[in-house]
Amino acid sequence: MKILSVLASHDASVAYFVNGKLECFLKEERFSGIKKDGGIIKCVAELIKKNYDIDTVLVNSVAIYDPYIQSNLIPWIKKQFDCEIVLMRTEHHLCHAFLAFEKSKFEESLVVVIDRNGTHHEKVTEVESIFKINKNYDFETIYKNFVRTTHITVQEDGMHLSENLFDIETHQFLKTLNCDVMCDSSCGMTQMYESATALMGQDIHEAGKTMGLSAYGKNKNYKKLFYEGVVNSHYFFKYFDQEQENDVCFNKDFIDDKTSEITKDNYQFYADYAYQVQKQTQEEVLRLVKKYTNKTGIKKVCLVGGYALNVVCNSYLIKSLPDVEFYFEPIADDTGITIGSSLLFHQRTENIIPKIPYDTFFHSFKYDLKNIDGEQADEKQIANYLTQGKIVAVFNGQAEVGPRALGNRSILFDARDPDAKNKINKVKNREWYRPFAAIVLEKDSKKYFNMYHLESSPEMTISFPVISNEIPGVTHVDGTSRIQTINNSISHFYNVLNEFKKLTNVSVLLNTSFNEAGKPLIETPQQAIETFKNTDIDILWFPEKNIMLTK
Ligand SMILES: [Fe+2]
Repeated sequence: MKILSVLASHDASVAYFVNGKLECFLKEERFSGIKKDGGIIKCVAELIKKNYDIDTVLVNSVAIYDPYIQSNLIPWIKKQFDCEIVLMRTEHHLCHAFLAFEKSKFEESLVVVIDRNGTHHEKVTEVESIFKINKNYDFETIYKNFVRTTHITVQEDGMHLSENLFDIETHQFLKTLNCDVMCDSSCGMTQMYESATALMGQDIHEAGKTMGLSAYGKNKNYKKLFYEGVVNSHYFFKYFDQEQENDVCFNKDFIDDKTSEITKDNYQFYADYAYQVQKQTQEEVLRLVKKYTNKTGIKKVCLVGGYALNVVCNSYLIKSLPDVEFYFEPIADDTGITIGSSLLFHQRTENIIPKIPYDTFFHSFKYDLKNIDGEQADEKQIANYLTQGKIVAVFNGQAEVGPRALGNRSILFDARDPDAKNKINKVKNREWYRPFAAIVLEKDSKKYFNMYHLESSPEMTISFPVISNEIPGVTHVDGTSRIQTINNSISHFYNVLNEFKKLTNVSVLLNTSFNEAGKPLIETPQQAIETFKNTDIDILWFPEKNIMLTK
């Protein structure tokens, strides 16, 4: 059975399975060059047609009836692929949950899904869910939080008002669910978080920027944004941002204070609010995890859904609940839905549990490098260049699936340099308040970071307090760093770190994704060479061939 699973909203992707084995995973943005690209998946469809046969296309949708999918996407897919089309449209959170559970390798766990929007049911939308899943893929829904769908109108004075559409039928529907149900708010945790992102003048999908800025915030005496799972709606309302084409939740107190740019002069107000949504949402996640681990007695927990990319919250959970074993899914956003829905589909139709790769998750094409010529460069030479302050880009094997660079499309730099951020920003041009991540030899990680009770953190899903003053280039203003611990499973990074350590006695390097400002992660060798030529990157290294390009 050859199945292509498609998600065509933002962060569009396809996952191609043959007899239950994931053969290929592609993101549209990596080929179109447009970050978070979605809609009609033109580029990846062409590539799939060229390389693979398909029996069935699985189309994922969060709505019972989505006019875009019905009238645009499905006819377009029919034209592209001459095969059966299955619409999978009711279990968005369960798809997230199956992916996280499968990759966690737990025998049984709770899976907490925290999402901006899941499946729409009539007049409510799921935003947070907790499932109990076991290795036979038997699952039980434990908790659901829905938000009430609202009807948005624009008033003469430009104000956007919302009318609550919640009604008796919806009430009846919620009563049929055999689990704890909440439905008292008009926005969930993720949208609460996005209110700070929107206030900062950013696209709401850029929550990572909010997380970066929150570290600059001061803890002030703010009003409570949650009461036992209920968003304090009095302070929030939704409006439709036509530029972004998204629902945005705003704190009413701040509606006039939206900025177009966070500067070193105006940042404090925005940072204080970002700090507050960070603090209060992570408190709410902790409350949920505590409540349901106590209630079920299950001490293994997976976190998934867009909010699970929040490395600060993940760190807070690890620190607060040492008796709980956590798995944070790195493909937590909707990118993972195409894989999760295939797992569900295979299990239901074929009664098989598909095979997906576990440890690191690189799953696009493997490119032929035979036409690339350069100077010889082994790990020792690369380490030596890094001690000289060179910016080194790495291109190796298949690209990372998720948003973090984990070794195959990375830019490396000396973490000891206090000015590292400014130097790397010549290439990346990121906002001044955002930190850079680090790689560290797993065996040395406790020398540099308070790892709490953990031995490793291989997927950059947690930030840790820095306990060394040797690595200012990767230490954020709040004294933390998002890290990837490296062992010899990623041999080129492992060897570079060991060689760098021999030269400097430090086994940490700055590691950021290989891309230009505002562009998606590099996919092909051609894109890599072009970016190398157009930017201030000093060296482009191909570890598979032990060669490099220099300027
Ligand atoms: Fe989602």
